[in-house]
Amino acid sequence: MSEFRRVVKVGGREFNLSAKVGNSAQSNSYIGTTAPAAGQTEPQHIFLKVSKSVEFNATIDREVVPYAGEGAFSARLETPAFTALRQRAVPKLITKLSLRDGRRGFILESHACAVSIETIIKKFPQGINAFSAMWMFRRMVSSLMYIHSRNYAHGAVTPDNCIVIMDPPSCRAYYEGAHSGFVADWKHVKESESEFPAAPTSWSSIYSPGERISCSHDVYMLARTISKLLGKDDPHDLELHESAARLKGVLSACVLGRTARLKTAFNVWHELDAVIKAVRQETGITFVPSTLDGLDANPGL
Ligand SMILES: Nc1ncnc2c1ncn2[C@@H]1O[C@H](COP(=O)(O)OP(=O)(O)OP(=O)(O)O)[C@@H](O)[C@H]1O
Ligand SMILES: [Mg+2]
Repeated sequence: MSEFRRVVKVGGREFNLSAKVGNSAQSNSYIGTTAPAAGQTEPQHIFLKVSKSVEFNATIDREVVPYAGEGAFSARLETPAFTALRQRAVPKLITKLSLRDGRRGFILESHACAVSIETIIKKFPQGINAFSAMWMFRRMVSSLMYIHSRNYAHGAVTPDNCIVIMDPPSCRAYYEGAHSGFVADWKHVKESESEFPAAPTSWSSIYSPGERISCSHDVYMLARTISKLLGKDDPHDLELHESAARLKGVLSACVLGRTARLKTAFNVWHELDAVIKAVRQETGITFVPSTLDGLDANPGL
């Protein structure tokens, strides 16, 4: 993350950008704040993404469709059952952007205590508490359920794209949605089993050229991400004991599920739910917050 100061004005609203958090071939991304939302006293945290040149506007336009609730994708998902899921699963759009030079972008709502799982892994390469990882896993699964509910796949469930809302005491006062999270970066979202054009570089080993992207790839990538969060690349190598060992079972099955091409986030949700219930019965543990001492708010997003 590099420090950055810039004010962007859109439709009479000011957005103060404070750090650059993404610098891909196609886009730049920033975090910052804007005036408090109605009824709030603290500034609204935001995420802004803009194309690097007009030739990449199409990617931005494609990514913004689900955030804006537009298009066939959203129409398919606007059912009562999934509207509730949408609240948590989909980053909320504040506005689209059109720059004078023709480039396009968008601004999403974000949170003061949002961090990517990649940041957590860098800070704790040996792994975090398994019961904290469990709620993060659950939030990512629920985000993917929204996408998988109509047979779409996300396509890039990588640690940097998994965003969790942490629980530092400083955040509790004004953000009641702590322990939330979602899978960000929806530009690859496609019908499951459709051809995947370009693999995310960090995970290219799991895509062969011409391979079709599917829901079970998402499940596979999420299991690898959560395994890394617990200190191991492969869930089979995890050393979890007693009640936490059940989590290893779910993660290992997700990796196998990719071969079978059967698993979606819905299967994982049920398996994880059974684990959470068993843990509760065995240990009385319902939820382990994660303050991740030493991580500042928005350290590496
Ligand atoms: N809504 C959000 N709130 C907070 N942080 C976010 C949000 N969306 C993404 N981020 C963080 O910003 C980083 C960059 O965003 P994103 O992944 O969307 O773009 P990218 O992968 O850099 O670019 P491109 O889409 O052009 O490949 C992410 O890796 C993630 O850590
Ligand atoms: Mg990304």
